[in-house]
Amino acid sequence: MHLNHPDITTVLVTADEIAEKVLELAGELDSYYQDKDPLLVGVLKGAVPFVADLSRAMQLSTSQDWMAVSSYGSGTTSSGVVRILKDLDTDVTDRHVLIVEDIIDSGLTLSWLTTNLANRGAASVEVVTLLRKPGAAKVQINVRWVGFDIPNEFVVGYGLDYNERYRSLDGVGVLSPSVYS
Ligand code: IMP
Ligand code: MG
Repeated sequence: MHLNHPDITTVLVTADEIAEKVLELAGELDSYYQDKDPLLVGVLKGAVPFVADLSRAMQLSTSQDWMAVSSYGSGTTSSGVVRILKDLDTDVTDRHVLIVEDIIDSGLTLSWLTTNLANRGAASVEVVTLLRKPGAAKVQINVRWVGFDIPNEFVVGYGLDYNERYRSLDGVGVLSPSVYS
């Protein structure tokens, strides 16, 4: 679905800009993981397009696995208490794990996830995120690769949803407030 859509008020990142950034990140990941046989861990569901594009842009052969997590807490704010809805199929002991995220907002989910995977005995746990909001600065997590820093607005597209909709938009944009009401 094209980002030029009546429910989108502001275009933040176009499909072309994402494609260019994905190539750049893939190049950096190829060098970083050259001799490490990385396991890409995608966080469902938002990271699906990013994992698909990033892994195909990489020249290294990678494994992939998926987790689904949910933050306890009311409304739209993440509480930092996380429940695993779908765990990995892969044993991450001694594996070089790369968490692939769509967006970091408060950073609480990711902070919990990196600790959880490190505690399973992973050889390393790194994070690549397509988008990062300013609030992420408040939590101490080492995010090695960031695609785009974006303003503190609710965005949809390229995997990100509002009530399970707009995930299939080809870029990232700000959802019109009229959609919420
Ligand atoms: P946090 O970093 O723990 O606050 O939570 C990040 C998660 O909240 C992301 O993985 C998304 O699923 C969701 N999220 C945060 N900001 C947005 C947004 O602007 N649009 C859609 N989902 C978002
Ligand atoms: Mg997510």
